[in-house]
Amino acid sequence: MSATLDVAAIKAEFPLLQREVNDHPIVYLDSGATSQKPQSVLDAMDRYYAEINANIHRGAYLIAERATTAVEKSRVALARFLGAPSAEEVVFTKNATEAINLVAHSWGRTNLVEGDVILLTALEHHANIVPWQQLATERGLDIRWIPVDGDGRLDLADLDVLLDDVKLLAVTAASNVTGTLPPVRHLADAAHAVGATVLVDASQWVPHLPTDVTAWDADFVAVTGHKMCGPTGIGALWGRLELLDAMPPFLGGGSMIQNVTFEGFTPADVPARFEAGTQPIAEIVGWDAAIDFLEGLGMEAVAAHERDLTAYALRTLTERFGDDLFIHGPSTVEERGGTLSLAYRNIHPHDLSQVLDQHGVCVRAGHHCAKPLMKVLGVNATARASLYLYNDEADVDALADAMADAGDFFAL
Ligand code: ALA
Repeated sequence: MSATLDVAAIKAEFPLLQREVNDHPIVYLDSGATSQKPQSVLDAMDRYYAEINANIHRGAYLIAERATTAVEKSRVALARFLGAPSAEEVVFTKNATEAINLVAHSWGRTNLVEGDVILLTALEHHANIVPWQQLATERGLDIRWIPVDGDGRLDLADLDVLLDDVKLLAVTAASNVTGTLPPVRHLADAAHAVGATVLVDASQWVPHLPTDVTAWDADFVAVTGHKMCGPTGIGALWGRLELLDAMPPFLGGGSMIQNVTFEGFTPADVPARFEAGTQPIAEIVGWDAAIDFLEGLGMEAVAAHERDLTAYALRTLTERFGDDLFIHGPSTVEERGGTLSLAYRNIHPHDLSQVLDQHGVCVRAGHHCAKPLMKVLGVNATARASLYLYNDEADVDALADAMADAGDFFAL
């Protein structure tokens, strides 16, 4: 049993973790792609639909007011969870990808001009690359990259040179491939020193570690609900109020206006300015329940559990498979999270994941939406096991047993 979490009791709260896959109890090791959802989240969404389903910020009747209150309560909960100074600074989006696109389209188009430089890292996944490439093409911007060394760490030797003339630094807080935890505050300080704005993609951080956007000294932070026990289809952008206040709307439509005439429109204040159309209300309500669930466990306890489990996984897999296995990314838990990209013998990651699936073990195989990083790592794909709060040592052992079986199978 974990020293910090009662994992058996936690697992019992997740209906999907009770099922079998291919006649084996499921071993879910793909929380980097999406996490499972506790019963309390499913119940909260059901209750919303059964009891207060109505559109928000519109109806002056009881259930509409209750629905509006539930959405605004979720915004307050998320602000608290992120360490944000104010709920006004939290904009609901469809996911982290949309949050980054919001910044690219609204802040980027307003503030960046031809010849300006955007600094990214080679760790980023496509959501924190493609919107900047689109903007760069449209506006004639340059993109520079902070390189990654062979251990999956950012190589910061030339940071000063790379930062020259940079207007925006966009960096992940935790790699979805190597588990690397870049030094976000150090990077933010260096970027601010040259007058750059800092966006942090925290999709893979917020579910696992205590978050404090002010301690990062970030300007924008993109997050997603579905990797932190919440529903799919809901994410958020946190931004400094003075930046959001100065930004034009991204999507136009209902709810984001103060007034509309035949001649034009005036936008609403933030955050409504960026929330056009009917919002995913049930998902916002479900996210609130997910935050409640995580706060009930305590993010310090979640982080400690995952650190111990990651150390166990690194030790167990290394001892068991020796030179037959290469685990991408830093080798110490101080520098990484529980995202383990595996290269096992010469077995193709897709083949490996198929054999693991026969044992009920779910991992993601592929490029993990991080093709530039795959190029740096010298592979086309990896098999990725990503750990979460409901995983335990038995899950790691099941992964190792299934890998041993795959090794036997492909040796034939
Ligand atoms: N970025 C998500 C993953 O790593 C989708 O699987």
